[in-house]
Amino acid sequence: MTACSLEAKRLFHSFAGTGEVLRGVSFALEAGCVLAVLGPSGSGKSTLLHLLGGLATPTSGQVLWGGQTLAGNSQEQLSKRRAKEVGFVFQHHYLLEDLNTLENVLLPSLIGNQKDEARAKLLLERVGLLERAKAYPKTLSGGERQRTALARALVTKPQFVLADEPTGSLDKKNAELVFTLLVELAHLEQAAVVIVTHDENLAQKADRIIRLEDGMIVE
Ligand SMILES: Nc1ncnc2c1ncn2[C@@H]1O[C@H](COP(=O)(O)OP(=O)(O)OP(=O)(O)O)[C@@H](O)[C@H]1O
Ligand SMILES: [Mg+2]
Repeated sequence: MTACSLEAKRLFHSFAGTGEVLRGVSFALEAGCVLAVLGPSGSGKSTLLHLLGGLATPTSGQVLWGGQTLAGNSQEQLSKRRAKEVGFVFQHHYLLEDLNTLENVLLPSLIGNQKDEARAKLLLERVGLLERAKAYPKTLSGGERQRTALARALVTKPQFVLADEPTGSLDKKNAELVFTLLVELAHLEQAAVVIVTHDENLAQKADRIIRLEDGMIVE
């Protein structure tokens, strides 16, 4: 059996002054699969994504990438691996205001020294923003910024894509376009994709769904 691409093993997490925000979350996601994470506000979805991406260390339990635990990696090792292997779409999308749309999308590929303008443009086209490639973030709508952040997360062809409500500020048509793009890329490029969403209908397009409630998988 091949190693599962992305695995959570009995993850518990608490912050200073909070009770347990995650209480024993386990699942394994193979390469090429899309997992939708549903659950009410405060149930621990963003926290789970941060742990899966190695942005925070669980209080107990383990995250495995390609069958290997992240525990024991130094911060420096982790950030190097993250830059290469993980595409993050944060709930609050941060674009650099001094870079135009195309430059924002290209940025992660510059860090890895693999500038790929053709892919950046292809992704901008897929999210419907190629004609805004030279526009600056302050001239983009919230949804356009969100779609730019998604293209940026995908530019390095990451093995893992972790998307926190990537369709939150999009209308129905663009939400479907973005969700479909993530599903297609997962299947085509064999990425393991985790999408947090509040949209039950979109979640049905994923290969698997988990529901979080009070830090536990209830389904
Ligand atoms: N840095 C932090 N310090 C203290 N508590 C935190 C921190 N981050 C999150 N929490 C708390 O942990 C719980 C889970 O937060 P989380 O952001 O994971 O929820 P969520 O499911 O993503 O919610 P939403 O749907 O509103 O985005 C919440 O009660 C939140 O207040
Ligand atoms: Mg959240």
